[in-house]
Amino acid sequence: MADHATDESGAAGSRADLIEAARVLFAAECRFVHAAQRLDQLPSASEPEVAFAGRSNVGKSSLLNALTGRRALARVSGEPGRTRQLNFFDLGGRLMLVDMPGYGYARAGKAVKQDWQGLMFDYLRGRTTLRRVMLLLDARVEVKEADRAVMELLDRAAVTFQLVLTKVDGVKSAALARKLAEARALARAHPAAHPEVMATSSETGEGVPELRAAIAGLAG
Ligand code: GTP
Ligand code: MG
Repeated sequence: MADHATDESGAAGSRADLIEAARVLFAAECRFVHAAQRLDQLPSASEPEVAFAGRSNVGKSSLLNALTGRRALARVSGEPGRTRQLNFFDLGGRLMLVDMPGYGYARAGKAVKQDWQGLMFDYLRGRTTLRRVMLLLDARVEVKEADRAVMELLDRAAVTFQLVLTKVDGVKSAALARKLAEARALARAHPAAHPEVMATSSETGEGVPELRAAIAGLAG
């Protein structure tokens, strides 16, 4: 019993420390640095980078706003395909957060699609400072072919990615448990995947401190 209590408080203490360090990091100034539409427009690779990728409308921009506690840092839209460039945000001079254009938007014109998805793939493959890709999956919808293709690309490029469920406010707990199990199985199946799957909601803030903690561990 005593051991159990010690273990619990010890683990809770270190987790609380991590979350606090993350809170401090994310309270630092976050400023928009640059938008890149082409590979030759990327800012110089200096700080460690964490990129937010996922299908159009999955909630990348919203999650960036929730993480940084800024309502309108990144542009959010109900209309898929809103973010069309790689947007770089500097967090306290220690970390670059990158809001990526979404993939898999069926209604986008072919040329536009090639343009922004080409840029996305080139960036993911070539960026030396990229520490991790947060790959967002909507907790309310099926994993799509495009998601699987991106996971395979990240495997091939040996870029570590972490699966992050979004919009968990929209699912009941049993459905969320199934979704988490599915995502963990995907993570096990992909060599480049981080084993821990996060569950978040930008609406309610659920899982946001934990995601901050995961990201803070990657800061310079
Ligand atoms: P693109 O830039 O077009 O690829 O989209 P995105 O992935 O950046 O999505 P964005 O953040 O613009 O959000 C898309 C829509 O989902 C918006 O209508 C958001 O309000 C909504 N949304 C985002 N996060 C959440 C969430 O946690 N819960 C709910 N219920 N809706 C959300
Ligand atoms: Mg966006």
